[in-house]
Amino acid sequence: MNKIVSLVGARPQFVKEAVIASEVHKTNAWNHILVHSGQHYDANMSDLFFEELHIPTPQYFLEVGSSRHGKQTALVLEKFEDILLRENPDMVIVYGDTNTTVAGTLAAAKLKIPVAHIEAGMRQSPKDMPEEINRVVTDHLSSLLFCCSELSRQNLQKENIIDGVFISGDIMYDLFLRMKPYFLKDKILQRLHLHEGQYTLVTLHRDFNVDNKENLVSILEGLHSYSKAMGLTIVFPMHPRTQKRIEEFNLTQYLDFMNTIEPIGYLELMGLLEGCANVVTDSGGLQKEAYYAQKQAAVIMPDTGWKEIIESGWNQLVPANVAKEVLPQTLGNKSAAYPDNLYGKGEASKLIVKAITSSLKN
Ligand code: UD1
Repeated sequence: MNKIVSLVGARPQFVKEAVIASEVHKTNAWNHILVHSGQHYDANMSDLFFEELHIPTPQYFLEVGSSRHGKQTALVLEKFEDILLRENPDMVIVYGDTNTTVAGTLAAAKLKIPVAHIEAGMRQSPKDMPEEINRVVTDHLSSLLFCCSELSRQNLQKENIIDGVFISGDIMYDLFLRMKPYFLKDKILQRLHLHEGQYTLVTLHRDFNVDNKENLVSILEGLHSYSKAMGLTIVFPMHPRTQKRIEEFNLTQYLDFMNTIEPIGYLELMGLLEGCANVVTDSGGLQKEAYYAQKQAAVIMPDTGWKEIIESGWNQLVPANVAKEVLPQTLGNKSAAYPDNLYGKGEASKLIVKAITSSLKN
């Protein structure tokens, strides 16, 4: 039986791994070894996802923790190479665009182990954004590239990446459909004393939004005006990075008008999403999930890889520097028609596992 190593490390990767691990288990497709880099390590940023999504316990924990980008990437590269030398797998699977993704890809490529990249072909400006660097390097070193959409395939084609490219659709949509009956909407609404449709769900964690004081103030001001004008509560599960910056920049006064909570797991977050009026986010995952839940989102970014949702008019881009003025006018525009199936029909994991299995036979 073939042996495949999956490398995860950050929240969005746990979610994606859940779908692949379950499909591999169901079809007994290969011997699946799971490695956790430790990029995310707090219980509510990591363990919680493994528990509620029934992700198997990783065989290896690299425990790299937080540090500067170069150092974090280097630590994963060094430690993951040791695992690869020990396990000698037939292929490595990496997910998305984090430092863990690019480090795992480099380690495998240097050992001539083929890499399968899930969520390949995403491109967005600025080119020096950490995630964009990670995507470009990962795609150019991967043998199998699974794209969420035709646009991602075209992005790869423009860079002469043609062989091994599949349009699989988005595995996060597989998970969304599968877990929908278990979303903890009632539980979270009760816990936070919220009323359905009476609040906006907010998440922020991108460096260009939260590490820059002016941008962060502009977003917080925009949220304040919007919530006052619309009479909506702001519900804000806060990433530890954002929490630290708000304290450092002495902006805690803005938290008085919001319902801020610790980061929460997938099922509660999806419950909050189902019950909200709309969403403000800079998360790649949540802007898509908002669309899956038929909620409109203001995406606090100058650009996004998920262009299909923007072009359909469903989500709107709001760069941080103009958020103060623009945000209050953006949300509440309900005129766009809901665009169906932008990222497949929720069957990505089947296609991915099949394609990987048959590539190993050849
Ligand atoms: C990372 C990914 C980003 C992804 C996001 C999902 C990169 C370059 N970025 O961003 O693509 O969208 O994960 O959440 O890989 N921290 C904790 N506890 C934790 C994890 C982080 O306190 O468990 C704090 C630390 O102060 C750390 C900071 O958050 O320095 C940033 O964490 P890091 O993993 O470097 O980046 P994210 O912003 O989470």
